[in-house]
Amino acid sequence: ATTLRGYADGRGVKIGAAVGDTPLTSDSSYTTVLDREFNSVTAENAMKWDAVEPTRGSFNWAAADRLVAHAQAHHQGVRGHTLAWYSQLPSWLRNGNFSVSELSSILKSHIDTEVGRYKGKVYAWDVINEAFNEDGSMRSSLWQTKLGTGYIANALRWAHAADPAAKLYINDYNIEADNAKSDSLYSLAKQLLADGVPLNGIGFQSHFVVGGVPSSMKANLKRFSDLGLEVSVTELDIRIPLPASAAELAQQSADYKTASENCLGVARCAGVTVWGITDKYSWVPGTFSGYGAALPYNESYAPKPAYTGLSNGLNPN
Ligand code: G3I
Repeated sequence: ATTLRGYADGRGVKIGAAVGDTPLTSDSSYTTVLDREFNSVTAENAMKWDAVEPTRGSFNWAAADRLVAHAQAHHQGVRGHTLAWYSQLPSWLRNGNFSVSELSSILKSHIDTEVGRYKGKVYAWDVINEAFNEDGSMRSSLWQTKLGTGYIANALRWAHAADPAAKLYINDYNIEADNAKSDSLYSLAKQLLADGVPLNGIGFQSHFVVGGVPSSMKANLKRFSDLGLEVSVTELDIRIPLPASAAELAQQSADYKTASENCLGVARCAGVTVWGITDKYSWVPGTFSGYGAALPYNESYAPKPAYTGLSNGLNPN
């Protein structure tokens, strides 16, 4: 049978997985599936600011370097995740009382350092992550509050200068449907492009509940694609209230097919990344109590109906 990456390679797109630091080094079943089925990886946590610079000026690149080396050894692309985000900031940054100009140079230095380190090794960066509130207003992150919305254009320009070949993305959740949040992002994206800011793509995280793939998703992704941008599904998982019934697992399979087709059926869809490989390591149960079973493989690495749905979504025939 053709693998997920076999289908993806055949149509020139990525099928990626978010990769955890621990399983990458400790679980051979994990890497067997990762390397057989996926042609792209995203560091689930290893490239976040709190992971790479826990203390100001002292860096911890080990886990991120390990993932990048693994990906290169297995001919997988790397999505960089993530540079300017409101969450997972190290305490020295979160609690510091910096002037506007100092904070701006701290953000620039972070981008120069991290994007520069992986120059030529990362094909796309989630430069901006989760900048919007649900009603379409700007989230009051450290960046937004202190630097204003202009931090977004600046971060994109700094990232482009550090690695001109990398595709630069704005990534968010609950923007998959045509709604107030995606409308605001659409307006921002349009303005950034008009201002000549190096924005290349929009990442639709796509953290869904079973049965909850928005009916407006394909049309919504198309309007961003029609701006000339890439679109990517960047963090797909589809959680189910536990215990998952056979009917819910079947619905999840259909949802994986639909969600992937909603991107792959749109011009400039760069690919689909699932936020993990196996239910064994998913972030979902720890965050949404009573939910789980969100990924294509179960805890024992058996492919679920979701795997077949994803495979059918990727299979162009
Ligand atoms: O590494 C520490 C460890 O040293 C410590 O002992 C342990 C207990 O405190 O925490 C560990 O850090 C955890 C980290 O995952 C690594 O496991 C953090 O507490 C925990 O908050 C963190 O959760 C991650 C979350 O982002 C927050 O960064 C999830 O694994 C990750 O799946 C999730 O991914 C996010 C995307 O980055 C952005 N989109 C939403 C998505 C889901 O929240």
